[in-house]
Amino acid sequence: MAQQRNSIHGEWSSRWAFILAATGSAVGLGNIWKFPYITGANGGGAFVIVYLLCIVAIGIPIMIAEIMIGRRGRRNPIHTLQLLAEEAGAHPRWRYLGGMGVLAGFLILSYYSVIGGWVLAYVFRTASGVFDEATAEGVETVFQSFVGQPMAQMVWHTIFMIMTMVVVSRGVQSGLEKAARFLMPGLFVLLFILVGYSMTTDSFGDGVRYLFQPDFAALTAKGVLIAMGHAFFTLSLGMGAIMIYGSYLSHNESIVRTTLMIVAADTAVSLLAGLAIFPIVFANNLEPGAGPGLIFQTLPLAFGHMPGGTFFGVLFFIMVVFAAWTSSISLIEPAITWMVERHGLTRPAACIISGVLTWVLGIGTVLSFNDWSDVRLFGKTFFDLLDFLTASIMLPLGGLCISIFAAWVMLRETTLQELAIGNGTVYRSWRFLVRYITPLAVIVVFVSGILNAIGVVTL
Ligand code: PHE
Repeated sequence: MAQQRNSIHGEWSSRWAFILAATGSAVGLGNIWKFPYITGANGGGAFVIVYLLCIVAIGIPIMIAEIMIGRRGRRNPIHTLQLLAEEAGAHPRWRYLGGMGVLAGFLILSYYSVIGGWVLAYVFRTASGVFDEATAEGVETVFQSFVGQPMAQMVWHTIFMIMTMVVVSRGVQSGLEKAARFLMPGLFVLLFILVGYSMTTDSFGDGVRYLFQPDFAALTAKGVLIAMGHAFFTLSLGMGAIMIYGSYLSHNESIVRTTLMIVAADTAVSLLAGLAIFPIVFANNLEPGAGPGLIFQTLPLAFGHMPGGTFFGVLFFIMVVFAAWTSSISLIEPAITWMVERHGLTRPAACIISGVLTWVLGIGTVLSFNDWSDVRLFGKTFFDLLDFLTASIMLPLGGLCISIFAAWVMLRETTLQELAIGNGTVYRSWRFLVRYITPLAVIVVFVSGILNAIGVVTL
């Protein structure tokens, strides 16, 4: 009986452990670092609306599909897709979809670890008190001189990578689960404190307007593609991370309910981060489109001017480290399970191999902010290219194939049984979404965005 398969890596100890771990995966640099800067680079409100639409119409149905596939297969994404394809009488070549996911996780982790290293460095910068009463120019100088030095970044990148691999090597319950248990609530509290501070600036209204008042003229087809890609990125979808987390989930839990909780928490963190950051941008005449350095230039300013700012600042960056940490472990978990299951490696050995490989690739990202900043491929730096390739291409493509797999390949009875919500409105809406709406939306955004990005059409 297929549904009695077990994962050799064990199971989450409870439903809450799963919710926390999956939320830990979803909430990360994507919410606090990336969402504000891509929103800023794509004009604000209209971008946010498209992103929210994508979360609802694409993110929720695909997350349900991924958890379901993972729990049904209970193997690494490559083997799971092959197993389930065979179970449904389809071609085992569906495993390549899992392979693309494993590769995407590896590529994303290579730059994720570099940015995670920046955050680590900022814990100590903030603690040193350099941001006390700092000016916008002062904060910017600190940031520019930091990213200008490859060596310093390399050290932090190394530390972050080791932290990630140490947790992953300890396995599901004593590694992944433990890391996620107490970190998320703390992050929420600190975000509220920051939003509270933002509200005291005169520019809170400007920030809110920027975030929620759509100016569709500022939005391009490429911006829509980035918003959609971000919906995948922020929910950890399209590459097997949520699938592998689903493979450790007990059969008694409701997939739909847990999905809604994870998505709600993730979206709330992003919007709160935006509400904390944009008022500070406007209050200090900074540029919302400042790029990847945005939070490293706004948050220190806020902390530098609030009472107890050094203390809260240090705490905040520590929380961001934790958020990034609980995400980075899920980026590499699919690759680790594959190496363990398929090649018989031990977890620690698999961690060392993949850690070294990702670390080496990460050097490209480090250099793209200094020595290689003029090296362009398709008009993009190494980091931008890697980000575009993974978040805007591989994840949406992976998500598209996952929804096709769940809706058109897997048998209806199988999905009905896994989701266990009866053949009512909820099931039928989910199935309608993954069958028609999600694939169509991804294809349309995808094709127009790519054409626009490579300059074939200007939209
Ligand atoms: N969701 C994580 C974030 O927002 C990043 C991530 C992407 C993690 C894909 C796992 C898989 O930071």
